[in-house]
Order: sequence, then C-alpha cells, then structure tokens
Amino acid sequence: MQMNWNCGSRHGHERQTPVRFRRFSLIHRNPSTLGVAALTLLTLASASAQDSTIRAIQNIFDPLSAPAEILYRISLLVLATCAIIFLIVAGLLTYAIIRYRHKGGTDDLEEPPQVYGSAAIELAWTVPPILIVVVLVLVTARTIGEIQKPKLPNDAEQVRIIGHRFWWEVRYPKYDVVTANEIHVPLSDRSKRIATEFVLESADVIHGFWVPQLNGKTMLVPNHTNTMWVEPYKTGIYLGNCTVLCGAQHANMLIRVIVDTPERYQQWLNEQKATPSNDQAVEEGQRQFIANSCGACHDIGGTNAKGVFGPDLTHFASRQTLGSGVAANNEENLRSWLQDPQELKPGCLMPNMKLGDKQVQSILAYLRTLK
Ligand code: CUA
Repeated sequence: MQMNWNCGSRHGHERQTPVRFRRFSLIHRNPSTLGVAALTLLTLASASAQDSTIRAIQNIFDPLSAPAEILYRISLLVLATCAIIFLIVAGLLTYAIIRYRHKGGTDDLEEPPQVYGSAAIELAWTVPPILIVVVLVLVTARTIGEIQKPKLPNDAEQVRIIGHRFWWEVRYPKYDVVTANEIHVPLSDRSKRIATEFVLESADVIHGFWVPQLNGKTMLVPNHTNTMWVEPYKTGIYLGNCTVLCGAQHANMLIRVIVDTPERYQQWLNEQKATPSNDQAVEEGQRQFIANSCGACHDIGGTNAKGVFGPDLTHFASRQTLGSGVAANNEENLRSWLQDPQELKPGCLMPNMKLGDKQVQSILAYLRTLK
C-alpha cells in the first residue's frame, strides 16, 4: 500500500481558489429550486445536454462506478469483521473489569486459579484468528484480481492520462483527441456495460490519480504504465486529486472526470476532433500567441503552435476550468493567468511572460474563441 501524502480533502477544491470560483462551485453544489427547474427543463429539451451536477463528496462509501462498488463491498466486510472482534474483546474486557474488580478484605490474599496447557483455550485463541485472516486474504486476493485484471467489454473506451507537474495530459488515441485536466467518459449501464480504461503514465515525477467515487488510487510512475478502469452509473462532474506529493502545486493538480451520456460523449468527441476555425477578428491574438513563444509549450491545432510541455489549448475555451482546476475558465481569471500565472498558481511551471496589456487583451480574445 502506498503512503498517502494527500493534502487534498473534500474541501481541497475550494481552499486556494479565488472568490469568483468559490461562488461558481457553490452554485453547482446547492442548486436553487429555480436552478433545478431550469436544469430539468434543459434536460427535457435536449437529452444530450451535459449534466453539470458536481459530485464533490470524495467518499469511498458512496461509490458510483463498478470498481468503486467492489472496493466498497470489501471495505464493509473488513470493517464489519473488525467491529465484531472489537465488540467481543471490549465486551470481555469490560466484563472482567467489573466482575473481578478489587473488593477489599481477603480478596488480595487469594491467588486466582492457575491454568496450564488447556488445549481448549489455546485452540480458541489461535484457530478463529487464523480463519479470519485466511478469509480476508482470500477475499482481498479475489478483489485485487477483479480490480486489476477486469474482463472489460471489447469496445471499451481507452484514455491515456499523463501526469505532469502540475496538470494532466489527456489523450484519446482511438479518436486522435488531445485535451487536458478534464476527462470525458461515457455513462455505463448495469444491463449494457460501457467501460473506460485509463492508461496512466508520468512525464516527470510520481503522481497519484484518485477519484474516490469512480475507483481506488493508482500511481502514475515515470517509465512505467499502470492501468485502471471506470464504469460510472451516474452522469455529472466527478472531482478528484493528485495523491502523491509532487511539488509546490500538488494540491492544485485537480481532476475533473465528466461523465456524459453516450450521445453527449460522442458529440463532445466530434467537437474536440474538429480544428477550430480561424476567426479573422482575433488574428492579432493568434499572431501574438506565436510571437511570444506561447507555442513553444502549447499546441493549438491548425496553427504553428506545436509545444508539448504545457497543456494542449486547441479547444481551451470548451473547458470549465483553467490551471488544472485552480479557477473557473472565465475572462477575469484568464486575464489574471495571462498577466501572471504565478498569481493564481504560485510555483506552477508557466512563467510570467511579462505581456503588455494590449498583448494580454488580444491573446485573451483569441483563446476565448477556441471552443
Ligand atoms: Cu501530482 Cu501531486
């Protein structure tokens, strides 16, 4: 089992984010009656609209995916076994303390009965513990097999996730789609399974991938490939954290897994596959983006920006957050990011490019068109 250096908690996503973003999350977490009504209407109007329910309670006791359910079942078995042992031991101890408490008088002088070599007592305290351990070992071994060597359907989706300090590269090899930090997967169904396999790699140091409601933790290790899979039963936005201390911005290496209906998922893939159209109005922004060497680190499809060190920005404006979940992807936060990324995410590897106000404005306008 790995050491858990996780500093993220269920509140981790809000701790260091600007006020504006905090409000943004709260709206999603506590939808007003009006909001719910609007959402219902929207759902009725378009079956393929995206479900914006935030599943922020990072709770292994509320599993919403096949492997998370398997882990939940074994954790209940282990907890119940431990609870029964605790009750028996604590009960016997309490009984002995009360029944044989100090009563004064001749009590101190009498020696309790001395028992040597009682086969019955020795069997009683060795055989049941051995049986309990054997059962737990066998059940755990079976669970590890189910989680690590699952029989996935042949048409399972595959997503390659590469951990970087401090963001996630996300690739869909089958569709030639590249994105970052927000991982779209299709909704599964108990009667007709739709599974998604995650192939996990690292570009630098060890990172940890954990979205508790979808599956257990898996490490991303340099020069090594790990896999895990998810089979979610509810649409929505599942939040997760990097779980291995990987540097200054480890706590802001946030994960969003967006579970879409299969139709909406296909629609999203189609949108991501398309090259963004060249908008004449923001030509200057594109020119500034290239001129200020942004393209040395970032890739934007259909342009000369071909960098791979930072997140692919081809469809940047279609994402909900920027800086790997550090802030909502809106104009104000993007302006702050372009002026100085160290403001929102101190210690991130994007330097302050010292852009002038005009350059910031034109690049901002350009990036906002990359839907
Ligand atoms: Cu990546 Cu912590």
